[in-house]
Amino acid sequence: MMRKKPQVSICAVVLLLLQLTTTSLGDDGSVMLKLAQSLQNLPSDWSSTSSTGYCRWTGINCDNSNRVTSISLAKSGLSGTLSPEISSLTQLETLSFQINNIAGAIPSLANATSLQDIYLDNNNFTSVPTGCFDGLTNLQVLSLSDNPNLAPWPFPNELTKSTSLTTLYMDNANIFGLIPDFFDSFSNLQNLRLSYNNFTGSLPASFAKSDIQNLWMNDQQLGLSGTLDVLSGMTQLRQVWLHKNQFTGPIPDLSKCESLFDLSLRDNQLTGVVPASVISLPALLNISLQNNKLQGPYPLFPSKVQKVSLDHNNFCKNSSDAATPCDPQVTTLLQIAGDMGYPAILSDSWEGNNACDGWPFVTCSQGRIIIINLANKHLAGKISPAYANLTSLKNLYLQQNNLTGPIPDGLTKLASLQNLDVSNNNLSGKVPDFGSNVKFTVSPGNPFIGTNVDTTPGGAGTPGSKPSGPSGSPAASSKSKLSVGTIVAIVVVVVIFIAVVFFVVYKFIARRKHRKFGRVKNPEVGNEMNKNGVTGGNGTNGYNGVPSELHSQSSGDVSDRHLFEGGNVAISIEVLRQVTDNFSEANILGRGGFGVVYGGELPDGTKIAVKRMESNTMGNKGLSEFQAEIAVLTKVRHRHLVALLGYCINGSERLLVYEYMPRGTLAQHLFEWHDHGYTPLTWKQRVTIALDVARGVEYLHSLAQQSFIHRDLKPSNILIGDDMRAKVADFGLVKNAPDGKYSVETRLAGTFGYLAPEYAATGRVTTKIDVYAFGVVLMETITGRKALDDTMPDDRAHLVTWFRRVLISKENIPKAIDPNLNLDEETIESIYRVAELAGHCTAREPQQRPDMGHAVNVLGPLVEQWKPATREDEDGYGIDLHMSLPQALQRWQANEGTSTMFGDMSSSYSQSHSSIPSKPSGFADTFNSADCR
Ligand SMILES: *[C@@H]1O[C@H](CO)[C@@H](O)[C@H](O)[C@H]1NC(C)=O
Ligand SMILES: *[C@@H]1O[C@H](CO)[C@@H](O)[C@H](O)[C@H]1NC(C)=O
Ligand SMILES: *[C@@H]1O[C@H](CO)[C@@H](O)[C@H](O)[C@H]1NC(C)=O
Ligand SMILES: *[C@@H]1O[C@H](CO)[C@@H](O)[C@H](O)[C@H]1NC(C)=O
Ligand SMILES: *[C@@H]1O[C@H](CO)[C@@H](O)[C@H](O)[C@H]1NC(C)=O
Ligand SMILES: *[C@@H]1O[C@H](CO)[C@@H](O)[C@H](O)[C@H]1NC(C)=O
Repeated sequence: MMRKKPQVSICAVVLLLLQLTTTSLGDDGSVMLKLAQSLQNLPSDWSSTSSTGYCRWTGINCDNSNRVTSISLAKSGLSGTLSPEISSLTQLETLSFQINNIAGAIPSLANATSLQDIYLDNNNFTSVPTGCFDGLTNLQVLSLSDNPNLAPWPFPNELTKSTSLTTLYMDNANIFGLIPDFFDSFSNLQNLRLSYNNFTGSLPASFAKSDIQNLWMNDQQLGLSGTLDVLSGMTQLRQVWLHKNQFTGPIPDLSKCESLFDLSLRDNQLTGVVPASVISLPALLNISLQNNKLQGPYPLFPSKVQKVSLDHNNFCKNSSDAATPCDPQVTTLLQIAGDMGYPAILSDSWEGNNACDGWPFVTCSQGRIIIINLANKHLAGKISPAYANLTSLKNLYLQQNNLTGPIPDGLTKLASLQNLDVSNNNLSGKVPDFGSNVKFTVSPGNPFIGTNVDTTPGGAGTPGSKPSGPSGSPAASSKSKLSVGTIVAIVVVVVIFIAVVFFVVYKFIARRKHRKFGRVKNPEVGNEMNKNGVTGGNGTNGYNGVPSELHSQSSGDVSDRHLFEGGNVAISIEVLRQVTDNFSEANILGRGGFGVVYGGELPDGTKIAVKRMESNTMGNKGLSEFQAEIAVLTKVRHRHLVALLGYCINGSERLLVYEYMPRGTLAQHLFEWHDHGYTPLTWKQRVTIALDVARGVEYLHSLAQQSFIHRDLKPSNILIGDDMRAKVADFGLVKNAPDGKYSVETRLAGTFGYLAPEYAATGRVTTKIDVYAFGVVLMETITGRKALDDTMPDDRAHLVTWFRRVLISKENIPKAIDPNLNLDEETIESIYRVAELAGHCTAREPQQRPDMGHAVNVLGPLVEQWKPATREDEDGYGIDLHMSLPQALQRWQANEGTSTMFGDMSSSYSQSHSSIPSKPSGFADTFNSADCR
């Protein structure tokens, strides 16, 4: 913009000459007459027939030559329009028509070079002509706020010439598009108010070169995005309103913003720890951060800060523990996330203060993190040195991301480390020596590893602090900087990719042929191949790391599968065909009302259950609704909830992939134990299972504030693991809106006997309906009888009615207890407590039933009494074994498409055949409510 200066001065001279001519030729009277004719409700001394004496009209000021210098008719009840001739008032400095009801187009003010202040806010203008403010080189204030009926228009880029601008108010003016990046032109700009428009894109970097003190950009319709990093350079800031947008990434360091007193960042997508520099801002009075994804310790602001709002974030503790640090493992994980720019996936899913409480991507043993799997998560930034603090870490998978910078030396100090995979990133620098105990995979990918080339975005001196690329304009510059190395890398990847496609297709065909003749294959051979492949890097198997998306989208027939964006959960139909041996009869675990369930086994031995729903049972449930629900369900992770690992949409059929539970359902253990070759559950096992169920359901209820998460709770939906602990299956989102009723109707038949009486009257699903069903399950657990038993006489057929009668007097209870239970005094006492709880849960009036938390509180101590010495067990339980399932799948998906995996897969076929039991079924009787409505 600077280079224009010489031209500007020539123009000024020309203009001056022009002005002199116009002055001598015409006068402002004719313009004023036009103006008087176009406006209505003018002051009485204005005339629409004669311009005589216009300099004395109310609101008009003139200079000595009768040239109009200001028009000031604010708040005068004016209507009508502004005549286009107004820009001919070449001496006009102030145009002030705010707070009227003037309609029509704003006249072009271009080349009215004397204009300094324009106030047209709070009117009813309908459009702004292109170039309206062109050439206003003396403009200081432009206020167009609150003209909500303006036709949508973009930011007036011609303002870049108005270098004297101090105040720009254009809020609520129907502006759309990007905020231009020329604020370095406005070295005097102090007030920028663009709220309540439809701006998109990121905050321009040139903000840092202006003098903005008051920045109001809140409430954009679609929302501004990108990070807030630019704020840290805006040292004059006093008031910042950026709420109700889509900003991401952490709150930046604001330590230089010493005058900032009002900071409103609520209702965005901000992640990360609230920086100390923000908590200690010297001038701060107001701060609102609620409704973000902020992490780390709950911040404690000094008492001088008058207004603080922090609700609805992902802090590790709550306000009662403000300012206390998170658990050390959580702190370390936050540092790791921080070095990758605090990606949103590591905020939403890493909640609370216990990293071993089912956090995705993390696997623990005995309360210590042993596996971290962040492969293929589109992560940028660097590998954090903080990994070195996780002293029990065995496996670290970071392949298939966009990580840059070096591999920290500290990782070599991890004594337990066995696997480290960083392939397919963009790392550089010296390779640490990991010794022979660590399977270290660095290639393919990482073309600059071992060199000093700085691969961090922006080159030298930008550590991982700003890795998340803003979605707006600044990204463009880095695109053009494709180095030769990158191009070579791309070419290599493409060539490898094509090779892999051919190889995979070849392998697939070969395997098919092979199987026709018999599928015997030595598992040892397969495993050996696998090992070689993963450690690879010797050139023969560089296809190891080709992203699964590429593979799946390009090999075979594209039309029969869908892989969705961010597709950790979408699994291709090929994969499911392979692991279920093309949905072979032999792999059927069972059949439910909605389709067939198949067992399958991933190459690493992880077993899965695949529900394949017949298309006609899906009704017309919309694809997007299905996906939306899947997106929620895959995030619901709890050690007592069966994990949904993924899904597949194949034409009109939908498939859901769950973790496999080897010991069948609670129903089988209670009612059909003999048929399945089980021994009857002991009382201790039963109460433990009941507590597991209560905990799982309690967790679901804690999620209920958004959409209700409903349980179709009954023993056939309670699944048992090898350790005889329970997980709850069949939960999902339930809408209680009138048209949400369908979701419950389909399950009525299945839930009969478990359904609370009020459901029939209200049709509403509430947490108390689950509590009732849980009470019924407790009764079944005590009596060994089904909720409905037709073989019984009528007065005993309905378990709740009968058992509640039994409960009336305590001495009746022993006769009702399952004869398969061994009763000693301690057991009887425990049964009394559970029977009492069952009665309480099945109270007729929903408000008389306790909530699930109460059930947990009653059952907890009963279980506790049996295991004084095994606390450790409980802490480690369920996480080590079960939480690794999604990770195993992810890791496997990440490696999908390699020859070795296919080779290995054939071997696991033979294994899975022998290992899938013919009868016991690790799947729920009914289906997840996501399945079919
Ligand atoms: C403003 O002045 C410039 C330079 O004299 C000229 O090119 C442009 O057309 C003028 N704009 C209007 C709307 O008169
Ligand atoms: C603004 O103008 C629109 C027509 O463009 C009209 O419908 C509306 O009533 C006007 N608003 C006010 C407050 O006069
Ligand atoms: C906001 O702007 C986008 C284009 O940037 C447009 O597609 C969208 O319709 C606008 N929204 C509204 C509510 O005007
Ligand atoms: C703080 O926020 C409240 C409510 O938004 C507002 O009324 C008050 O003026 C603000 N105070 C300061 C000093 O900004
Ligand atoms: C990690 O270790 C470093 C030193 O190696 C230490 O400064 C840091 O506080 C540790 N972080 C945690 C969360 O323990
Ligand atoms: C890496 O970044 C590029 C550009 O930002 C993106 O297109 C690509 O998908 C990313 N790769 C991965 C594996 O996330």
